[in-house]
Amino acid sequence: MRLLSTLIIALCTLCSCTSKAQEAKTLRQAQGELKTETMKSIVIYFSRSGNNYVNGDIVNLPVGNTKVIAEKIQKQTGCDAFEIVPEKEYPADYGKCTEVAQEELNQNARPAYKGNIDLSQYDTIYLGYPIWWGTFPMCVFKFIEDHDGFAGKTVLPYSTHEGSGLGNSISDLKELCPKATVKKGVGIKGSTAKTADVSKVINQ
Ligand SMILES: Cc1cc2nc3c(=O)[nH]c(=O)nc-3n(C[C@H](O)[C@H](O)[C@H](O)COP(=O)(O)O)c2cc1C
Repeated sequence: MRLLSTLIIALCTLCSCTSKAQEAKTLRQAQGELKTETMKSIVIYFSRSGNNYVNGDIVNLPVGNTKVIAEKIQKQTGCDAFEIVPEKEYPADYGKCTEVAQEELNQNARPAYKGNIDLSQYDTIYLGYPIWWGTFPMCVFKFIEDHDGFAGKTVLPYSTHEGSGLGNSISDLKELCPKATVKKGVGIKGSTAKTADVSKVINQ
């Protein structure tokens, strides 16, 4: 009789432990699913309007090429957007801008940008930039460093350029973002921005 009651108590304890473990597992799964459902995508980009070099000519671009692509990504995916706008505007004149950009690159400068954004709700970042002297502008370096190298996020880079493709930008990005998953990147010739198909950026 004593043996039987001990057995019954042991069985009840086991059942209660199993159901508590099951409850905890279900809760963890629900939390995980909720997190997956609530995580969002954002396109973060730098772009400069004004005079630029297009197919051998200097052309005035009212909207920068990288911004044209960013707006298409936003339209196609419904993601959020953040434009990295430098505190000190770059010269609209192409030649002067290349001089300022080269000086910043040589000095490994970190130019300030306007505003800020909390990236904790995003797990996917489309990152857009023009190629300047072979990589992205220095204020993009600053933005990435200020945001913990996009740690834990998936980064889908794209560049616009006049012949350099992605330049050194992907290796620079991987160095700046050791804890992010950096995809291979897509280079888009600036002069084709208006007609470019952005699905290759989205699906890389
Ligand atoms: C300061 C500066 C440096 C540039 N350096 C390069 C370069 O190294 N390689 C290249 O292919 N294009 C270069 N370009 C051309 C831009 O990458 C190209 O026009 C780009 O599409 C501009 O994008 P945005 O209009 O969004 O600023 C440079 C343009 C500027 C203004």
